[in-house]
Amino acid sequence: MATSPDTPADLPPDGVRIAFVGKGGSGKSTTAAHVLAHWGKDGIPCIGLDADRPGDEEDGSLYTWANAVDIGAPVYPAPAVSHVAREAARLTPPNGIALLDTGAWERRDGSPHAAVLAAVNLAVLCLPPTRMELERAGSVLGTLEHLRSIGAHAPRLVVLQTLVNPSARSGGTTREALTGAGFTVLTTVIPRQDAHDGYAQAFGRPPRVIPGSPMDHLARELLDLVAAG
Ligand SMILES: Nc1ncnc2c1ncn2[C@@H]1O[C@H](COP(=O)(O)OP(=O)(O)O)[C@@H](O)[C@H]1O
Ligand SMILES: [Mg+2]
Repeated sequence: MATSPDTPADLPPDGVRIAFVGKGGSGKSTTAAHVLAHWGKDGIPCIGLDADRPGDEEDGSLYTWANAVDIGAPVYPAPAVSHVAREAARLTPPNGIALLDTGAWERRDGSPHAAVLAAVNLAVLCLPPTRMELERAGSVLGTLEHLRSIGAHAPRLVVLQTLVNPSARSGGTTREALTGAGFTVLTTVIPRQDAHDGYAQAFGRPPRVIPGSPMDHLARELLDLVAAG
């Protein structure tokens, strides 16, 4: 069912959890901050949980951003890997959404990624249009497969195309290639915006909430995906 700002989404009483995964620099934290800001503005109870380790990435983490300015939703640092699922569940607002941001994807014992995936209902793989990216998608699928094989919870996976150059015909990973490989690709595409008021300059400032913008569309598309019914 479509949602609008004055129609509260039909989220379950215990709420839902969504994780953003993908390589470093794929736009996870920027997109997460904007999506939280849009949900917040629309009255959707939401929080961020930052499972990135400080210093992992150049531009800092979602937690750093939310400490610098009000992004429209509270953001908490993730606890130790063994406590991620419990903390994520505890912090998820009733009838709301917890958005888990992660650091650069790595499939390694002890990395937080498998724990994050096991703790969420929906995983969003942020995928910029470069050729190697289908391999990374394969690595995420492998981790989901591993979770299933050990009887752990594995979330639904969707792909979000990020940093898409609005003027270029994609020479990299296309929607067709991803769909052909069996992935569900979100309708929303996050464009690369390098202008002074674009997403490239957003870190450390309050995210701009613009009705009809790509981030607004994404906030609604994700909400519709996780809403009950
Ligand atoms: N849609 C976008 N357009 C232009 N630059 C972007 C966009 N999204 C993110 N960036 C920039 O790319 C870099 C990486 O973004 P970030 O959100 O930190 O990625 P991640 O969290 O996946 O490492 C940052 O410098 C950020 O400002
Ligand atoms: Mg990040």
